Order: sequence, then structure tokens, then C-alpha cells
Amino acid sequence: MVRIGINLLGLNFENPLLLASGINDKVPEQWIRAHEEGAGGVVTKSIGIEPRDGYDNPTIVELPCGLINAMGLPNPGWRGFLEMVEGYTFDFPLIVSIFGGTPEEFAFLAEKLSDVADAFELNLSCPHAKGYGMEIGQKPENVYEVVKAVKDATDRPVVAKLTPNIDDITKLGLAAEKAGADAVSAINTLKAIAIDVYAKRPVLSNRVGGYSGPGVKPVALRAVYDLAKALDIPVIGIGGITTWEDAVEFLLAGASALQIGTAVSLRGWGVFREISEGLRRYLRDEGFSSVEEIVGLALEE
Ligand code: FUM
Repeated sequence: MVRIGINLLGLNFENPLLLASGINDKVPEQWIRAHEEGAGGVVTKSIGIEPRDGYDNPTIVELPCGLINAMGLPNPGWRGFLEMVEGYTFDFPLIVSIFGGTPEEFAFLAEKLSDVADAFELNLSCPHAKGYGMEIGQKPENVYEVVKAVKDATDRPVVAKLTPNIDDITKLGLAAEKAGADAVSAINTLKAIAIDVYAKRPVLSNRVGGYSGPGVKPVALRAVYDLAKALDIPVIGIGGITTWEDAVEFLLAGASALQIGTAVSLRGWGVFREISEGLRRYLRDEGFSSVEEIVGLALEE
């Protein structure tokens, strides 16, 4: 008998696959759909203080091995978010992603949204939003201050989502851990650009965006491996996970859970079931009885 449910952040997930914060998770219907299609939990689109429309189109460009997106953090603001979720109950863990420009803004959001969030993911890593994301999260001291402020503001578990756009991501992970983070998630997208050769200008309206999908998987896997080696808190793996083999690689590299985003855009909602069934088969065939048994096996010397 193989058990693929996990307990993480004090929450029970039916399986280790979560819908990633990104381009398929703005409204409750998408979160519910993800769960119906086999996701064990959901991370929402990042929520800020004020409503934002996001950038003009085009906001996404498809490449042979993934996507570059620059949505511009579109969201209804914390008040709009509370209105949006009113009347819903979710039978899966809901991790609310939040972004702010200062530790105080992050803390304010955590306080306001604690009643509807099972946990928070802190967006310290969006690669292209002025004053937000990685502009803050590239500095370990900022990661420390933000995590600490949020931990002081809420008793919900806190996950710091880290940027790969830095020399050594473990510096950010260690800062998050020192500040009391319950887990880190990695990686957010790689800062990137695509150019239209006929228009002779960048494709995206924002010009610069974040690269995700199969092309970033080896980079993400290495980041997870390094973080899992350096930290005592759990690491949630994100970055190009598309097949069950990808999922197994991330677990072996030390990820305790996984987030899937771009694969939903490229392959459809069915990826959750496809990957969880493949993972279950792999565990059974290899003689394991739970996901936890394979977490970090590739870290052993
Ligand atoms: O454009 C966006 O909304 C992207 C956010 C992120 O990368 O975190």
C-alpha cells in the first residue's frame, strides 16, 4: 500500500503536488478545478495592498521549452480578495501568496488575510515588478526582515518564495530560516526576454519577464538540491515540473512538496493526475510506501 499524502506546514495534503502561484490561479474556480483534477493544494496568485490591473498584453510568450511571462502582479487587492473568497469553503489547503514593498506591507497583508489562508507564501522573487519581488528578495537582509515581520503578524505557517536570480540562493534560504520561515519554495522564474525579429522589439509589453517551464528545470533542481543541503526547514520545489519523472527528481533532490504551474498552461489540468499516478507507481515499483521515504535520497554522499 503506497501513501502519497503528505503533512507539511502542519497541513495535510492529499498528495505533494500544489498549483503554483502564476498564471492559472487568480480565482477560486481555478483553485477548485486544480483540486478536482488532482492537485493536493493550491497557492493563489499574489495579493497586494491595492488592486492592480497588471501589464498590457502581450503578457505571455511561448518558447520551445517553456514560457516567458510578465503579468504585472494583477490582483484585486486584499479587500477584493476577501470579497472574492466570501462564501467559499475549500476542502484542500489554500496557501495565499502575498507581495509588498516593505516588511510592514507584507505583515499588514498577513494580518488581514489570516482568517482565509491556511498558510502564506511570500513573493520575494517576481523578476520584473518595480519595487516588489526580487528587487527586495535578492538581499538576504531583506528576506530576513520580511519573514520576521510576517511571522510576528500571523500564526499561520510562512513560506518564503525565493529568486534564482542571485549568485547563491542558499544565502536567501538561510536568511528565511533564521527569521523563522516554516519552509522555502524555489524557484520563481528566471529573468528573461524574447525579441520579435520582425517588430524588432521585445515581445512582451513589459519587455522583460520571467522564464518558466521545462527549460528551467535543471536550474530549479540544482537550487532545490543546494537549499535542501543547506537548510533544516522543508523546501518546496518549483520549476518546469511536467512529468512524474520530474517530480521524482525534485523529491530525490530534497523537495518535500512540489508546485506545478507552466505545465498546466502547456499540457492542461490533467498533469496533476498524470504526475500523481506516475509517482504512486514509481513508489510501489521501487518498494517505498510513502513519499517522505524518497525525499532527499539523492543528497546522500
Ligand atoms: O507578472 C507576474 O504577475 C509575475 C509574478 C511572479 O513572477 O511572481
